Amino acid sequence: MNSLLARSVMKRAIAGRHVSSSAATPFYAAAAAVEQGRGLSVVVMGWRRMTSGAAEPAVAEKDKKSNGTVAEEMRKGDVVVSSYWGVSKPKITREDGTEWPWNCFMPWEAYRADLSIDLGKHHVPKTFLDKVAYRTVKLLRIPTDVFFQRRYGCRAMMLETVAAVPGMVGGMLLHLRSLRKFQQSGGWIKALLEEAENERMHLMTMVELVQPKWYERLLVLTVQGVFFNAFFVLYLMSPKLAHRVVGYLEEEAIHSYTEFLKDIENGSIQNVPAPAIAIDYWRLPKDATLKDVITVIRADEAHHRDVNHFASDIHFQGKELREAPAPVGYH
Ligand SMILES: [Fe+2]
Ligand SMILES: [Fe+2]
Repeated sequence: MNSLLARSVMKRAIAGRHVSSSAATPFYAAAAAVEQGRGLSVVVMGWRRMTSGAAEPAVAEKDKKSNGTVAEEMRKGDVVVSSYWGVSKPKITREDGTEWPWNCFMPWEAYRADLSIDLGKHHVPKTFLDKVAYRTVKLLRIPTDVFFQRRYGCRAMMLETVAAVPGMVGGMLLHLRSLRKFQQSGGWIKALLEEAENERMHLMTMVELVQPKWYERLLVLTVQGVFFNAFFVLYLMSPKLAHRVVGYLEEEAIHSYTEFLKDIENGSIQNVPAPAIAIDYWRLPKDATLKDVITVIRADEAHHRDVNHFASDIHFQGKELREAPAPVGYH
């Protein structure tokens, strides 16, 4: 009798837990509403957990059916996904009603690049640390120029593998600091991780255009191993120097992409159609070309330049990043 009672209590407890987990669903409705506000018609369905049969039999039946359909659909694809966890693929569409093809980013992460940004802005090195940062970046450019020369496709692809590291390291270290100090980050964790993600999307675009050779992949492995650790130590020791270095690296990136555009304009590099991922990420027109893609990437680099010089300036004033408003969503 006691064991029956215990089992009954256990069942009720489990049912209760499932019911409460369904509270996660309004988030997706809210996400869809936000997108409508931005002028995007995005339909988001799914990403909901199964509800308990005891609490909502009609909903549970519906979910069971839809999960069955999803499981069936997934079986048709390349990946067999377990339905055990009750996680189903959301149905997301573009403005024109066509299916959103990407899992790596969502429509609410796509944006139109701000092309009005000043590309020629330069932070004149004044202090000793500024000069160290500037000289370091200029020195790093020499082997890059020697190795790649005017092969701007390869050069951009390789450099993006490096460019996506600082934001991740900075964001990670600020995250850990926030945990240790029980302090808000002022939005800087998000801002730096957004930069890392944006750089990674540059890379995802470039690999659609240039296929890396085996020795280039080997070089990426080596450079990442060295650069990640070096930047990690540098950020721990002097975040103001680390951000200044990134600011100057971004100035160099703007220069490289300007040269890339010159080669497209003079015909040395073919102005091929833009990759599909780039059209969706930067909300480019369907007939966009490589020139349009490089133009928006260059604008992104100019934004990264400003964010990093700004961050370094905050440190130079003897303040912490969290004391100044973080440029979240700054593209
Ligand atoms: Fe980049
Ligand atoms: Fe950048």
